[in-house]
Amino acid sequence: MTSGHPELIAAIVADIAAKGPIPFARFMELALYHPQFGYYTRVGGEEKVGAERIGERIGWAGDYYTSSDVHPILGRALARQAKQIDDLLGGPTPFTVVEVGPGKGLLARQIIEACATECPSLVRRLRYVLIDRSPAMRSEQHRTLAHLPQRMLVWMNSLEDIPPNSLIGLVLSNELLDAFPVHRLRVSEGRIYELHVDYRQGEFVECLRPLSCDALAVHLRRLNPEWPNGYQTEVNLEALTWIKQVAHRLQRGFVLTIDYGHTAQDLYSPARRNGTFLCYFRHSINETPFLRVGFQDMTAHVDFSSLAEAGKAEGLSVTGFTNQLSFLAGLGVEAMIAELEPESPEFRAALHLLKPHGMGGIFKVLIQQKGIGHVRLDGLRYRPFWETALTRGETRFHAA
Ligand SMILES: C[S@@+](CC[C@H](N)C(=O)[O-])C[C@H]1O[C@@H](n2cnc3c(N)ncnc32)[C@H](O)[C@@H]1O
Repeated sequence: MTSGHPELIAAIVADIAAKGPIPFARFMELALYHPQFGYYTRVGGEEKVGAERIGERIGWAGDYYTSSDVHPILGRALARQAKQIDDLLGGPTPFTVVEVGPGKGLLARQIIEACATECPSLVRRLRYVLIDRSPAMRSEQHRTLAHLPQRMLVWMNSLEDIPPNSLIGLVLSNELLDAFPVHRLRVSEGRIYELHVDYRQGEFVECLRPLSCDALAVHLRRLNPEWPNGYQTEVNLEALTWIKQVAHRLQRGFVLTIDYGHTAQDLYSPARRNGTFLCYFRHSINETPFLRVGFQDMTAHVDFSSLAEAGKAEGLSVTGFTNQLSFLAGLGVEAMIAELEPESPEFRAALHLLKPHGMGGIFKVLIQQKGIGHVRLDGLRYRPFWETALTRGETRFHAA
């Protein structure tokens, strides 16, 4: 079944008519980020899917929520981590935080507000850069941050707007990389094929084709997987390009990436045979990307090992890898929660971010660094993984 935004479907159909079946990554790119009609990029008021009204993407009235919709403690913890990083960098003016993919801008607001109360000396030197490829999301960020001193806020359209080797500070993202288009792979008769999308008799249909690009073949050789027939998974090449771009722009500082994901060993283990690709619509999940095209989100879990390795090739070393629960614990979340009224809705919301089998455990935090010696970051004080968890023999942790 195919349904969705009519103009978006027409644009994808035209792409297929011009090129033949397109890689799933191209379909996902158009569905989420088509300049006029994509799920994230489209600017406009409320629309209807069947009988359902839609409008917001992120949040309780949208399709999914993120940590900053739940409770501001992640923002408070990140403010503390930023303060420690600022000290390590010697208190530069400005101290730059670049948040990539800030969505509605809630996390930015929570971080800046926490800095204002907890570290006023930092907030005076803070330059907070927001980079989001979606004009609709940029408008939401302007609304969310309208009450803050505008001198500290800078909007950019892409990382390209930052000169190479210029950045001193912190590059931050939450749930950015899981929203990048992914190549989907399936093993059939002992060979790895790439899922493509064709359009036949008024419907989008899947078909298997050889790998669509050399970069994917090179990446798979590096992963060297042993997958059985029927195995299905995803590769996020754009995340690897992204971390390289970040590395080129950073002169001295840290890259802090929060997302749901795994080490490569876990993500690509033979047991995980259906992959992690999912669609989100109105807080329910499905595996049918050809339904509600342009009206539902699509996502896949992040391979943190490959991200670490790609960063390392461009001069970023791994400071450490942990999960959200341990990250928050290292930054004093226990004391923050003790300030809340026990069993209040706020208290329960804060605990939601810590659940070991929920957001606390599924979300991982990777911190990488450039131009800095051996350091101990508070967010990496507790680590539930072996030192070598991320590595396939190359990337090394600094001892925390
Ligand atoms: C899943 S949302 C997460 C939003 C927010 N970080 C949060 O935690 O609520 C992903 C955001 O990343 C943006 N985005 C996707 N690809 C991007 C890219 N290459 N550069 C900048 N922003 C991007 C989307 O427009 C969207 O706002």
